[in-house]
Amino acid sequence: MLKEKGGQARRPINSQETPLQKDPSMYGSFVSGRRALLAATFSVIALAACGKKEAPPAPAVAPASTPSVKTYTVGTDAAYAPFEKMSPTNEVEGLTVDLLKAVAAKGGFQVKFVNTPWEGIFKTLDSGERDIVASSVTITDERKQSMDFSRPYFDAVQLIAIKEDSKVSRFDDLKTLKVGVQTGTTGDEVVQKLLGKTNPNIRRFESTPLALQELAAGGVAAVVADNGVVQNYIINNPTAKFKSVSDASFMPEQYGFAVKKGNTELLEKINKGLDAIKADGTHDALLAKYFGPKPAATTAAPSTTTGSAPAK
Ligand code: ARG
Repeated sequence: MLKEKGGQARRPINSQETPLQKDPSMYGSFVSGRRALLAATFSVIALAACGKKEAPPAPAVAPASTPSVKTYTVGTDAAYAPFEKMSPTNEVEGLTVDLLKAVAAKGGFQVKFVNTPWEGIFKTLDSGERDIVASSVTITDERKQSMDFSRPYFDAVQLIAIKEDSKVSRFDDLKTLKVGVQTGTTGDEVVQKLLGKTNPNIRRFESTPLALQELAAGGVAAVVADNGVVQNYIINNPTAKFKSVSDASFMPEQYGFAVKKGNTELLEKINKGLDAIKADGTHDALLAKYFGPKPAATTAAPSTTTGSAPAK
């Protein structure tokens, strides 16, 4: 039986996070515009409510959702900022949460996020402990054998994290070095191809932040992981003095929401919601909120991110 992860113990170590975008003001105007609109809407509702003196007091608890609106349990390994992480009040938050909540609103369902260890996370679909795995999961042919995926919602690629003074300039340079990965991720797979599956130089960690901490401690010479997480870590942990290197051999990856194989009812709802938020601009806006106007994977030149370059 898989347990819910203790939020505190597993909180990412980079607690002081700043958004990845280089220019927060670009999205700021959008956000404040939306907030202003929301605020205005609420005050109109509040005024309307005040006008109706005879209206019965609002029930303390919102009426239960209509029977057809199901609540699905979502498993996520919330040590993966800015996609999924634990908030100071122990809630799962991040881009994945924002996206799936928007998808659910359009797809006609509700979601409840549960912090779930990455190792064994896919088994929770078959066991019924989770209905959806939303955890920056790359859609792969191998995984498609044992679970079903929504249409893709995010483009990603592997990235090598190294110390600023490292001589590593391409993936091949890692052949003889100790390399940290999160167990069972696509980063793990990519490194296996270079070093060999059973090579003891592959150091496997239960979370990506733990692998990156080991890089800071000098226990590994590099970490290979998803670009968004590596870049976010570098920007939010400047004292670690990391930089990143991309490699042309890394294949493009796409994240999808996973459900139990054959759960077409839920998959259709997710895809319907996803199509809707792509069509109405919500998807783009949420990506921009975390990554600036363009997703990290599609920015023009593969560049080197350094912790010392302030994210202004
Ligand atoms: N995208 C990679 C994969 O699917 C890593 C995902 C890890 N996600 C997480 N929340 N730890 O293998």
